[in-house]
Amino acid sequence: MCGIAGYIGARNAIDVVYDQLKRLEYRGYDSAGIAYLDGGEIGIMKRAGKLTELGKLVGGRPDGVTMAIGHSRWATHGGPTDTNAHPHYDRFEQIAIIHNGIIENYLELKMDLARAGHEFRSETDTEVAAHVIGAEYAKGVSLEEAVRHGVRQLRGAYALVVMSKREPGKVVAVRNASPLVLGLGAGENMLASDIPALLPYTREIVVLEEDTIAIMTAETLRLTDGDGRELPVKVEHIDWDVAAAEKGGYEHFMRKEIHEQPQVMRQVLAGRIDEDFGIRLERMFSDFVWHEIDRVNIIACGTAYHAGLMGKHLFESALRLPTDCYYSSEFRYGDPVLSPRSLAIFISQSGETADSLAALRLCKEKRIRTLGIVNVVGSSIARECDRTLYTQAGPEISVASTKAYTAQVMTLTLLALYIAQVKEMPGVRVQAIAKEMQGLSERAKAVLELEPEIVKLAEQVRGAPLFFFMGRGADAYVALEGALKLKEIAYIPTVECPAGEMKHGPLALVHEGVMAVFGASESSVRDKIVSNMREIQARGGTVLAITTEDDGIVDRVANVTVKIPNGDFDYLDALLSIIPMQMLAYHVARLNGCEIDMPRNLAKSVTVE
Ligand code: F6R
Repeated sequence: MCGIAGYIGARNAIDVVYDQLKRLEYRGYDSAGIAYLDGGEIGIMKRAGKLTELGKLVGGRPDGVTMAIGHSRWATHGGPTDTNAHPHYDRFEQIAIIHNGIIENYLELKMDLARAGHEFRSETDTEVAAHVIGAEYAKGVSLEEAVRHGVRQLRGAYALVVMSKREPGKVVAVRNASPLVLGLGAGENMLASDIPALLPYTREIVVLEEDTIAIMTAETLRLTDGDGRELPVKVEHIDWDVAAAEKGGYEHFMRKEIHEQPQVMRQVLAGRIDEDFGIRLERMFSDFVWHEIDRVNIIACGTAYHAGLMGKHLFESALRLPTDCYYSSEFRYGDPVLSPRSLAIFISQSGETADSLAALRLCKEKRIRTLGIVNVVGSSIARECDRTLYTQAGPEISVASTKAYTAQVMTLTLLALYIAQVKEMPGVRVQAIAKEMQGLSERAKAVLELEPEIVKLAEQVRGAPLFFFMGRGADAYVALEGALKLKEIAYIPTVECPAGEMKHGPLALVHEGVMAVFGASESSVRDKIVSNMREIQARGGTVLAITTEDDGIVDRVANVTVKIPNGDFDYLDALLSIIPMQMLAYHVARLNGCEIDMPRNLAKSVTVE
C-alpha cells in the first residue's frame, strides 16, 4: 500500500523524507512526491514512476527546509500519473495533504464541493479530502480544528497528514483504519506509515491508535480524540532490525499478508456498499448492459483461476447465469465457442500475466465484452479491458498469493450482487449478503486467532508424505487453493478434488500417514462429507476438518477439527476457511525450513508463456 513519511527538525527535511520514502520502497508504489515549506509557501514536487524520478527534482531542492511530508502512492483512484501523485493542495493552496487508504464518499463530497466552485486537478479521493479540510481551514480555525471538522465528513479508511503555510513547524495527522506511526527524537519528530522508515532516525515510536489526531512539532507531540480531548502518549522502544521491520515484525511477507486479510476485506468493500446495503458499482458499469449478457467466461491462472471458480459457483447458483472458468493458457489455444452476448472476466493480481493478457487480446479481437478484476492499478490487463474493477488489496509481495485471492473472491461476490440488483432478481438477498460481507472482516480476525492451534497442528503433520484437500460445493473450490498453497511453499505433494470424486480414483493413494484436509462449511452436505472422511480413516489416513462453530456432525468424526465462526451464507463461510489452510501451509513450510516468500522455481509475475 502507499507509504507516508514526514519530518520536522534541524536536518534537511527534504533529504530525510526522501530517504524515508526509499526505506518504504519494498511495499511497492507507482509514483511519489514531497511537500515542504520554503519562504512561507508550500512547494510540492511529485513524479510518476520510480523514486529516482522524484530524486531528480530533489536534487534541485531548496536548502534549509526544516519541515516536509512525503508519499509513495500505489494507485487506487486515478492512474499512476504526476498529477494524481500526492501531496495535494486544497483549493487555496494553504495546506498540503498526503493520504493512505480510501475515502469512500469522495464522489458525493466532490460533487458538493464542485457546486461550491472548487476545481480539482487530479482524479484522486485524496484531493477531495484536501479540499474538505481546506474549506474548514478557510473558516479561520486552527489546522488541528480544521482536520477534526474535516474528517467528520469523510467515510472510509485513511491515514492523513496535513501541513499548512499558516502554521509553519507543525503537522497534523489522523488515523482511521490505515496505520501511522510517529517517531520521537531530540529536537526532531517524524512520522511514517511503517516503522522501517523511522529506524535510522529513532527507535522511540508511538503507534497512532484508531480515530486519534496527532499534533506534532519538532519539540512536542500531542494526541487528541475526535472531540479534542487530550490522550496519553505511549512511547515504545523498538529493537527490531530493519528486515523484520519491513515485514511489520512478521518473519515473512506471506504471514504479514495472511494477517492483512481482515483489513483487505474492508478495503474491497470501501465505497461499494451504501448505507442501505445496496451495491455501488454503477459508475463502472453504467453502459454495460447486463440484460444482454447471457453467458460469462472467467479466464485466469493459478490462484486467480481458483478465485474464478468461486465466481462460477456463485454466478450459476445465485444468478443462474451460465458461467465457464478457463485457464488462460488453455483458453488462448483452445478455440473456445464465444457467444457475442458473452462477457469475459479476466482475474489477475499483477495484471501482467502473459497468458491472461494474450487471452484478453483474443477476446478483444473477437469483439467480446471484457471486464478485468485486477489488483495492480494501471497494469496491462487493467488498461486493456473494457472495464476494470480493482481488488484494492494493496501490494502483495510474497510469491504465494493470499490476500489477493480473498480480495478477488470478494470482488466477484460484489459483482454478482450488483448484477442481481440491476436485474432486480428477487431470489438473491442482495442486502443480506452485502451486510454479511461487511461483517466478514471481524470474523476473519477471529479465524486468525486460531493460529496457535494451527501451529500445533503443523507440528504434528509436517512430515506427512501426501496431503488430500477436499470439499463439496464452494468448499471444493477453496480446497484447490488450499492445496496450491501447501505444494508451492512446503513442496509437499497434494491431491485435490471434490470429495465425491475421491472414490473414482484418488482413494488409491491413501495409506497410513496420509493427511486429508476437508473443507466442511457447506452445511447441506455435511453427512456426505462425513462418509468421505470415514473412507480416508478406514485406510489409515488422518482427517483434519475445517468446519463452522455450529457444526455438531463433522467434529465427531474428524481426527482434528478447526472451527470458524459461521454466518448465514455457506459461500462466505467457505471463503473464510481458506485462512486456516493458508496458515497451515505457512507453518508447515516454516517448520520444514522452506524458503517461504520466494519458493523455488516460482515468480510473482509470470510475464512469459
Ligand atoms: C499462487 C500464485 C499464482 C498466481 C498466478 C496468476 O500463489 O500466486 O498461481 O495466482 O500466477 O497471477 P496473476 O494473478 O498475477 O495473474
